[in-house]
Amino acid sequence: MSTLIYAHRGASKQAPENTMPAFELGYKQGADGIETDVQLTKDGIPVLIHDETVNRTTNGTGFIKDLTYQELSALDAGSWKSDTYSDTRIPTLDDLLAWNKEKNLKLNLELKNNIISYPSIEKIVTEKLKDYNMVEQSVISSFNHNSIALLDSLNVEVDYALLTSKRTSDLISYSKDIHARGIHIRYRLLSNRFVTNAKQNGLYVAVYTVNSPLSISKVLRLGCHAMFTDVPKRALEIKQRNK
Ligand code: G3P
Ligand code: MG
Repeated sequence: MSTLIYAHRGASKQAPENTMPAFELGYKQGADGIETDVQLTKDGIPVLIHDETVNRTTNGTGFIKDLTYQELSALDAGSWKSDTYSDTRIPTLDDLLAWNKEKNLKLNLELKNNIISYPSIEKIVTEKLKDYNMVEQSVISSFNHNSIALLDSLNVEVDYALLTSKRTSDLISYSKDIHARGIHIRYRLLSNRFVTNAKQNGLYVAVYTVNSPLSISKVLRLGCHAMFTDVPKRALEIKQRNK
């Protein structure tokens, strides 16, 4: 099985992260999938943005949880990257799913509920995937492992995976207990031993954030299920060369 290339927050090296232009660029560059971060506005709308506040990536200030969708949608989410993107808005999950209808890319929806807990985010996101008939090509992940365990109890058909930057001894057994499909690990945790162990336990391994040629090559060499990269074009070129 060949390693899937996910555009991390879209093709986020070139275009403003987690925006439609970044997703579009990832698609054009040939990525297999899009990784994006989901948070909830004050009025419960799932939106795609990495930080808990709008401060870094828009011209506004404040926490997502304190802003209504209407307030949020007035913000410029592109100029911080380049003037070319000044008309860019924070997308909703609906925007991404509607856009993906014809493209059918794989999706990794990362619930950003490890710092702020968003009530019912698990249910809101899975219902959206069902509405758009996009359960099959999607995987939900989170650094909040209780949230992932909750998906198990919700009994939905969607795949889910633990996300971690730390090696803990029970990662694999816990993933199995909650019927996760895989584990998404930070690159520095990657080893042949870990991948083999996970595979033997029926779990796939995906790796973030993989941008340098050396790290891209290592992820490919170890036969990981997927990588998340800000530079999908580069990853695809290396994958092609190594075929
Ligand atoms: O989902 C993989 C990766 O995106 C996790 O870290 O901080 O880039 O969302 P972060
Ligand atoms: Mg993420």
